[in-house]
Amino acid sequence: MSGPFADITETVFAEKSVLSESYQPEEILERDEEIDAFSHALQDVLFGREPENLFLYGKAGLGKTAVTKYMMEELKSEVKTRDEADELHVHEINCNGKTLFMVVRRLTNNLLPPEASSFPKRGLGTGDAFEELYQQLDRLGGTHLIVFDEIDHLDDVNTLLYELPRARSNDQISDSLVGIIGISNNYTFRQTLSSKVKDTLMETEISFSPYDAGELRTILHDRADRAFVDGGCDDSAIAKAAALSAQDMGNARQALDLLRVGAEEAERQDDNIVVDTHIEEARTLVQRGRLRNKIRDQTEHAQYILETIAKLENRGEVPARSKTIQDGYEQVAEAYGTTPLTTLKSIQDHLSDLHMLGFLLRHERNQGLSGGQYYEYELDLDPMIVLETREDIIQSSE
Ligand SMILES: Nc1ncnc2c1ncn2[C@@H]1O[C@H](COP(=O)(O)OP(=O)(O)OP(=O)(O)O)[C@@H](O)[C@H]1O
Ligand SMILES: [Mg+2]
Repeated sequence: MSGPFADITETVFAEKSVLSESYQPEEILERDEEIDAFSHALQDVLFGREPENLFLYGKAGLGKTAVTKYMMEELKSEVKTRDEADELHVHEINCNGKTLFMVVRRLTNNLLPPEASSFPKRGLGTGDAFEELYQQLDRLGGTHLIVFDEIDHLDDVNTLLYELPRARSNDQISDSLVGIIGISNNYTFRQTLSSKVKDTLMETEISFSPYDAGELRTILHDRADRAFVDGGCDDSAIAKAAALSAQDMGNARQALDLLRVGAEEAERQDDNIVVDTHIEEARTLVQRGRLRNKIRDQTEHAQYILETIAKLENRGEVPARSKTIQDGYEQVAEAYGTTPLTTLKSIQDHLSDLHMLGFLLRHERNQGLSGGQYYEYELDLDPMIVLETREDIIQSSE
């Protein structure tokens, strides 16, 4: 028997899922100080006292979510061994794209007994949802830690942070204790809060700094030991992935992506050991993936403009002036059955945004003696990435 799969018999992976985004490491490496600060901030839980509120700050991929998950598991098991501690309930909610009402409603529903009907989506307001939440907290009793991930994305964060931490002192709850753990990418989050909240909110802050190459190597080595078969991955490949990610924000997620995609490249090329060159190749693929996501995040008109410039570029007609781009853009928008934006100014605004986001290069030109100034634009990325991504988006929307 031979078929398209018959030749695929070898793999570098012993357990590939160890390198996936959803894998929660049993052990957190290189974050001893943060873990220590975390333990102290939550120590009141062990003694049945009201927990401190805790805010974690740091850029993407620095271990905020992983450390929090780890600490919650550790705390849950520690609490079981302590007589003074109340029963611990941990609730996690991601605030991205949610309104305060949605968040409070979701929390309330998580706390309701299984036989109860869920809190209605319509008809009642945020105040009602808070009231129901407080009732459920008291019904369950014990200590509740509520983790709000991406808390800076919440629309009405001031109300949340004014209400919830004061529920007990305002007699809205009496049989339960509540602590908030907020996670944010924005180091200046606290400054964005209203002064009323800033004055009343008592919290501990932990800031996560970028990993250096050595720290990333430690994290990757630990994963690689589990992820790969013996000898499946060269040490220098790990060092390469760590060094590349350290140069670029010190992001552990990116380092793990490089290792996983590099290993996939090795398999695709029928190599049975992952080496530096696979990581180099992975870098291009991972960067492309990121660019694609960035393009997808743009509005449809911004995407039409990018597509227009990519087409001009393929015809060798760049750098191009905004009027030329506008003409091409109108054809593109109409081809997709969309009414184009009409003013040159709106196109220029989009061009300037796209330039700021790093999609475009901008050249300043002077119009000789007449003295006028204008800009010309071209892509700062491979036009094929734009055209392929647009193709994908159109296909998936059909
Ligand atoms: N110190 C560490 N030890 C082991 N694994 C880690 C460590 N730090 C990060 N990771 C891993 O790196 C990846 C990214 O970490 P995590 O999701 O915690 O980042 P984050 O700070 O929450 O990022 P974001 O702001 O984008 O949500 C995860 O797969 C996580 O398991
Ligand atoms: Mg996270």
